[in-house]
Amino acid sequence: MAGTRIDWVREHCRLLRSISAEFRQTRPFGGLIIGTGIHLEAKTVALLLTLRDGGARLVSTGNLNTTQPDAVDALRAEGITVIGGPTKDSEVHARYLDEVLAAKPDLILDNGGDLFARYLNRPYEGLLGGTEETTSGRMRLEPLRGQLNRPILVINDSPVKQFAENEHAVGQSALESFLRMTNRVTNGEQVTVFGYGACGRGVAANFRGAYARVSVVDVNPVTRLRAHLDGFSTPPRDIAIAHADVIITVTGARDVLTAADLPLLRDGVILANAGHFPAEIDAPGLISADEVASQQEYTDDLLTLELRDGRRVHLLARGHMFNLAGPRPLGNSIESMDLGFALQARCLEAVANRSVDATSCVVPVPGQIDVAIASSYLDRRYPPRIR
Ligand SMILES: NC(=O)c1ccc[n+]([C@@H]2O[C@H](COP(=O)([O-])OP(=O)(O)OC[C@H]3O[C@@H](n4cnc5c(N)ncnc54)[C@H](O)[C@@H]3O)[C@@H](O)[C@H]2O)c1
Repeated sequence: MAGTRIDWVREHCRLLRSISAEFRQTRPFGGLIIGTGIHLEAKTVALLLTLRDGGARLVSTGNLNTTQPDAVDALRAEGITVIGGPTKDSEVHARYLDEVLAAKPDLILDNGGDLFARYLNRPYEGLLGGTEETTSGRMRLEPLRGQLNRPILVINDSPVKQFAENEHAVGQSALESFLRMTNRVTNGEQVTVFGYGACGRGVAANFRGAYARVSVVDVNPVTRLRAHLDGFSTPPRDIAIAHADVIITVTGARDVLTAADLPLLRDGVILANAGHFPAEIDAPGLISADEVASQQEYTDDLLTLELRDGRRVHLLARGHMFNLAGPRPLGNSIESMDLGFALQARCLEAVANRSVDATSCVVPVPGQIDVAIASSYLDRRYPPRIR
């Protein structure tokens, strides 16, 4: 029988498969509704079905611009309520989020802080807490701790998520996506990476591995020193921009590159964002800048701005996260997401069974969950009999 890509992914999410088998017995979410706002793609299908196997009723929507129709179809075929579909329109997306909250979920699985932030505008009885997947979401929710006042575990702040996904997997998928979307060379090109956190370290290392010359710009001098000692050049921001053939932002901050930078950009530069929100590169500001004479849109989410002085600036996915964009987007590796989503399943279980309380509001994953998941992953590679 022919299998789909989603079948392939589920087959290789080995941690989630074993958690599913356990959850079918223990039913940690029996009688609970879980509201989710996370990228809907093949790997999240495996996560959401694991939560369903734990007894949850799921009400799910995606994130801006990353929802994949085949993932939505697969979830609906399994009886999961999926709100909306792919959209780049933030107002439409906001309506989808509100529909998830209208179901009054007992637990929230958030990605970027959208659901928890909107919950505060229209609170309801019975929300136990939940999880937040990203750095960007943690930054948004930290100042809201006093109002949220319930357990919210930040998956991003697990060391396992940091090195398995942010560093290794985002680095790989950013390189894979650059090649897949542009089909352009990396060898000998000057690539500038904005942000040298976990994601930026992986992006810089992968492009260096693809024979690019890589420079790093980071607002934090300590982080810049780390990049320097890792062997990357760390020129001042404007010099880095002026010499770049490719600029990749992955900071979690807004307006890292704006129309004010247009005078600095080289002819032919490619701009791409791998940070969570499409606000790191101010794409609307660049597109509508006075310097832009015309624009050429290509298939596969490629846009070229032709400037009045003849220079051309290429923008991938209009500043949306490019490692989940373009033709046949695969995102991060299955195993890295299996690790991160196993953390998700165990953290939601901990909130559901009240083993964490309101003192754990917007805090990292409990250490014992990291240890259990790391051991489980390694045990599969080296089963006890051949140690
Ligand atoms: N694309 C993906 O698949 C994916 C996966 C995980 C995380 N993310 C997102 O990537 C972003 C970065 O995540 P991270 O875990 O590396 O964060 P991080 O906090 O570890 O690192 C961010 C770095 O950016 C630097 N920075 C902040 N503002 C800057 C600016 N204006 N210019 C230059 N440097 C600046 C900070 O000093 C820091 O070193 C977040 O938005 C996160 O949500 C994306």
